[in-house]
Amino acid sequence: MRVIAIDGPAGSGKSTVGRRLAERLGLTYLDTGAMYRCIAFAAIRRQIDPADPDPVGRLAATVEMSVIDGVVTVDGVDATLEIRGPEVSRAVSMVASNPAVREQLRARQRSWATQHGGGVIEGRDIGSVVFPDAILKVFLTASPEVRAQRRAKEMTDLEYDQVAADIARRDAADRGRADSPLVEADGAVSIDTSTIEIDEVVELLAALVESRS
Ligand code: DC
Repeated sequence: MRVIAIDGPAGSGKSTVGRRLAERLGLTYLDTGAMYRCIAFAAIRRQIDPADPDPVGRLAATVEMSVIDGVVTVDGVDATLEIRGPEVSRAVSMVASNPAVREQLRARQRSWATQHGGGVIEGRDIGSVVFPDAILKVFLTASPEVRAQRRAKEMTDLEYDQVAADIARRDAADRGRADSPLVEADGAVSIDTSTIEIDEVVELLAALVESRS
């Protein structure tokens, strides 16, 4: 099983790099942040408080979700746009700090990888916890300004300042939580994408994977 793990904070370029690298290598791609967003979306939709650990943990065990080629469905409902909206973005850190949710999603991520014979998998704890034996672990970073600008472009209804504040709040929550916080995994290749072209990052990583295969 060939797993390439890409971790890093919001706006560091994980999704763009991950998608293009998967295409370049002919592998499938999984965005695990979308899975945490699906749980937040499902809780809001069922009027469950995202901060209430037990019902949200149960939800993570039972909810049906699929994240395929950027199209996301939750219990059969298309949630592709909603999971990127401000309501889900506000609730998702709370959901991601819930150990029962993390346990469920880790299991789903591992079974996804088994089914697909590996793939390019991006998130916050992929190289450190979910796939510590990945053939390549990548940790992407970028300056806070560059990250906020990238996210603000994706979310046209929000102001830059709001996006910057949201990113700072989520970074602190992701790095500070007790269960699988955002850290650079042992042996990870760390790249600052603030000033390097994404294509260059993809070529560099593809060469590393090919040299290890
Ligand atoms: O990458 P993103 O912004 O879509 O991620 C949404 C949230 O999910 C973010 O606050 C961090 C969390 N997350 C996580 O805790 N572990 C992962 N493997 C992926 C995302």
